[in-house]
Amino acid sequence: MDSIVVRGGNELNGQIPIAGAKNAALTLMPATLLSEEPLTLTNMPRLSDIGTLTQLLESLGAEITSMADGRVKAMSTHGKINHVAEYDIVRKMRASNLVLGPLLAREGQAVVSLPGGCAIGARPMDIHTNGLEAMGAEIELKDGYLHAKAPLKGLQGAVIDFPFASVGATENILMAATLAKGTTVINNAAREPEIVDLADCLRKMGAQIDGDGTSTITVQGVDRLGAATHPVVTDRIELGTFMLVPAFTGGEVECLGGRLDLIGAFVEKIQAAGLEVTETDKGLKVKRVSDRVKAVDVTTEPFPGFPTDLQAQMMAMLCIADGTSVLEEKIFENRFMHAPELVRMGADISVEGGTATVTGVQKMKGAPVMATDLRASVSLILAGLAAEGETVVNRVYHLDRGYEFVERKLSAVGADVERVKGQ
Ligand code: UD1
Repeated sequence: MDSIVVRGGNELNGQIPIAGAKNAALTLMPATLLSEEPLTLTNMPRLSDIGTLTQLLESLGAEITSMADGRVKAMSTHGKINHVAEYDIVRKMRASNLVLGPLLAREGQAVVSLPGGCAIGARPMDIHTNGLEAMGAEIELKDGYLHAKAPLKGLQGAVIDFPFASVGATENILMAATLAKGTTVINNAAREPEIVDLADCLRKMGAQIDGDGTSTITVQGVDRLGAATHPVVTDRIELGTFMLVPAFTGGEVECLGGRLDLIGAFVEKIQAAGLEVTETDKGLKVKRVSDRVKAVDVTTEPFPGFPTDLQAQMMAMLCIADGTSVLEEKIFENRFMHAPELVRMGADISVEGGTATVTGVQKMKGAPVMATDLRASVSLILAGLAAEGETVVNRVYHLDRGYEFVERKLSAVGADVERVKGQ
């Protein structure tokens, strides 16, 4: 398995292009199941998760053509399609569950393997299934698979109150509701930019949706959806990750394609920590205002709060900040697995339940470390940029799920980072 070797200490300066959002692409692609006509997505990120979803959609009968080096994907599904999403593919990536709503809307039935837990905690699907049941679906769990059936006349519009603003459940219900009979209202919907991007694309396909980006989304069902071409929104998590780079290295980095409206509370926190953020005509420029960033307290929340997907990277930064910070993880139950790895590099972190207390040290030291999940992997690379000596991040297959060419993007701005091919 490949590893990433980082030799810390270089100041970084220059431009870093930010890719299309993984989490947007993973919900836009299943939208192709809602229409017999082609859906073309541009600004696609080149990631292994996209490959996994391509494989799943092809297994359901979608035809997918990749162009422009994988940056453009044209997809279409004609006629009757397979409605079984097999465990062997779904287990690789939880977001595969986003075919449930579209399959049910299109075929009236869906059999989708339950994805199972993952490293960051149990990830149930009750909010998805309760929502679809409110629309008339009958769903039962058999042999590890969700067997879902729509009523004979198809899914019916309904008023659905989410107990929690789940991103995936909002996406599944939103897609299902586009072809349901009547009006669906989702209360306490997630407000993430990826939801707005999905709604934009569905509108281009002919869907009638209002309120995306707010807590109440209203969908008026239509009989059919048509063709569309849609650019995937910028990846706000990749953006936030690279915006933190100057905190570790000094210098000034311009994140191309970056936008403040995509990153909510994150920008206020990094400004409070001592990073200066300037909007440019190409994106966002970031530099550190003094030699060392300052401690700040962070609580993860649904958008526009501080994103859980940037918590690990923020923790890595707070490890070298001046003072003590308290980090609270409110979205996932077990998302501090990067903490012991950062401690191996000399960080001072204590974890109790969902709270981590981080006391900044002057310098971290390079060490061999293990990547436990996608965002944890990149937090260790960031830590390595500031550490003395060499950091070897092992098991980077997680990283390739969500960051394209991270070592190339960092080398291009002056980092000493390389990928060492595994056996
Ligand atoms: C999405 C993102 C992921 C991000 C997360 C939170 C994708 C592909 N992934 O994941 O990167 O970290 O949002 O911003 O977009 N929950 C339930 N029941 C459900 C659904 C969720 O209890 O039916 C709980 C989960 O266990 C978790 C929390 O709600 O604790 C957040 O989950 P959710 O917002 O659904 O995240 P995902 O869509 O899985």
